[in-house]
Amino acid sequence: MRRILVTSALPYANGPIHLGHMLEYIQTDIWVRFQQSRGNQCTYVCADDAHGTAIMLRAQKDGITAEEQIARVQADHEKDFGEFLIKFDNFSSTHSEENRELSAGIYNKLKENGHINVRGIKQLFDPEKEMFLADRYVKGDCPKCKTPDQYGDNCENCGATYNASELINPVSVMSGATPIEKESEHYFFKLPEFQKFLQDWTRSGTLQKEVANKLAEWVDNDLKEWDISRDAPYFGFEIPDAPGKYFYVWLDAPIGYMASFKQLCDRTDGLEFDDYWQAGSDAEVYHFIGKDIINFHALFWPAMLHSAGYRTPTAVWAHGYVTVNGAKMSKSRGTFIKARTYLDHFQPEYLRYYYAAKLNNRIDDFDLNLEDFAQRVNSDLVGKVINIASRCAGFVKKAGGTLAAELPDQNLLDDAINKGDVIAQYYEDREYGKAIREIIALADAANEYIHEKEPWALAKQEGKEAEVLAICSLGINLFRQLMTYLAPVLPAMTDNVTAFLNIPDLNWDSRTTVLLNHDINKFKALMNRVEKDKLDAMVEKEKADAEADSASLAAPTGAASLSEPIADEIEFDDFAKVDLRIAKIVDAQHVKGAGKLLQLTLDVGEGKTRNVLSGIKAAYSPEDLIGKHTVMVANLKPRKMKFGISEGMVLAAGPGGDELWLLEPHEGAKPGMRVM
Ligand code: 2FM
Ligand code: ZN
Repeated sequence: MRRILVTSALPYANGPIHLGHMLEYIQTDIWVRFQQSRGNQCTYVCADDAHGTAIMLRAQKDGITAEEQIARVQADHEKDFGEFLIKFDNFSSTHSEENRELSAGIYNKLKENGHINVRGIKQLFDPEKEMFLADRYVKGDCPKCKTPDQYGDNCENCGATYNASELINPVSVMSGATPIEKESEHYFFKLPEFQKFLQDWTRSGTLQKEVANKLAEWVDNDLKEWDISRDAPYFGFEIPDAPGKYFYVWLDAPIGYMASFKQLCDRTDGLEFDDYWQAGSDAEVYHFIGKDIINFHALFWPAMLHSAGYRTPTAVWAHGYVTVNGAKMSKSRGTFIKARTYLDHFQPEYLRYYYAAKLNNRIDDFDLNLEDFAQRVNSDLVGKVINIASRCAGFVKKAGGTLAAELPDQNLLDDAINKGDVIAQYYEDREYGKAIREIIALADAANEYIHEKEPWALAKQEGKEAEVLAICSLGINLFRQLMTYLAPVLPAMTDNVTAFLNIPDLNWDSRTTVLLNHDINKFKALMNRVEKDKLDAMVEKEKADAEADSASLAAPTGAASLSEPIADEIEFDDFAKVDLRIAKIVDAQHVKGAGKLLQLTLDVGEGKTRNVLSGIKAAYSPEDLIGKHTVMVANLKPRKMKFGISEGMVLAAGPGGDELWLLEPHEGAKPGMRVM
């Protein structure tokens, strides 16, 4: 029996899980369930990735502590994963005591071994917020092509890469202030000292070929020291003996794999942390990841483990990005589909099947084509696999519910049983698409057999009962083989099938026991077809969410607005098209379920009112608004949003969130007056 520990990348604790994430969790979960079905001891752990500036800022924006923020998100993540039938043995957070201890322990070993270097570096600093600015928190004009509004690391226009300090007219995205250069001490992990180790490690079968080749370019030439510290304010673990300095989120994130496993070991008899993590352990450790985070897993991580005296991963397996309908996932097109939205429309196993049917073990991107999704599920699962059981079950039931004592065509069944070895190898190699092709070919053969024998026609003839039962018993046995092979992909359906077949499980090896003279239970529908209009409804829902999000920001978003360049010139006529009116807020209400919106009832003169949904909730309480006058765009086409129709827009200034100020006219302006 192999002892295997498996992980998927830890999702950040500042946003919802979407179908892009789900590719990896489904890929991993299938592999884990497959290993378990083979009788191996396979443990699957994960956690939320809870540290870093983004999470700290997100919590500040929502007016909660970082701890509250990560707890909220973790609850949502766990719910989504649970409903997608992702069976973690433990789901933790990188902000755990176990992780704090392990991170400090590993860091101390690196230091003892002389692998940490401390030196001062200059960085941009926001004098208002009093914090150092990571590249994406600074914007300015590209030093090469002068395009305005570029981030601190590269230019979207000309592709140049540079240091944030080279930006022309830099501004802090955080406050709009002009950043200053400031020096501070940083802690570095001396990666170049691991060149030889990494040259060997990355070429020793631990990585996919294309990944190893890509990394070779780096490992052979250009390893740089890795900056593992960040200055306060930062949400993370303070570095031992370095007050005010924190571990960079990417240092303690992979250690989070170990920490989550440690938590599990501490509550599980017979599962020992050291058995898996000590140097020389013969347990296997695999990390499933996306291709964007290969460097962290295939360079820094093995080097750190090696220095700290732990074993390194058996392998790191990367997959490509998910596109939807052939394009990058897009909020406005409604193809940035959240796990929750999917689950509100469909059962998880459709997606699990579709992902499995198209996955291979390479890093190519993966296209979720929604039409193809419906077609594949309907034709393969409903039309082929389940069809076998639904065509045969009734005849078995009619004959008393006991399968025949002998099967008419043992060869057909033997073929299906023997295919198990090939299919198992495909699963083992993460070639799920190939596995599914074999399984569906078996389903085709089974359907052909039943079609040829026409038990429904025989059943109408006298004296053919035994023949009908034998044909259908073979059909049921073939169905059982198929379901054994599909069980890692379709766990909930598997439970229903074991109940129907009256067998304890569908483990891989049990398939060699043929069901003869065996009582089965009543057949219940196992899966419905994917309805196309529900697909449309799902996409529409995402579009509405995206609209609500953008409408919830009445003013330009992003705190760079203070320095935002003036927009292109327009003619007076263009301006005159916008009908601005004075409006009086006669009522303001919270909107149930909307995080950012208030519902305003505006008096627009002549006894008329308008209903406007406005994203000013973070800045105003409803009671503070009632009675105030403001300015509205009165001729904005009514917009259907998730929470109702918005008939116009009120004007406010500021970067957004709680920094937003509604425009108010001088006293005397009356509702309905035109603003020019
Ligand atoms: O890229 C990401 O989403 C990271 N949160 C993944 C971390 S994986 C591991 F190293 F913790
Ligand atoms: Zn440029």
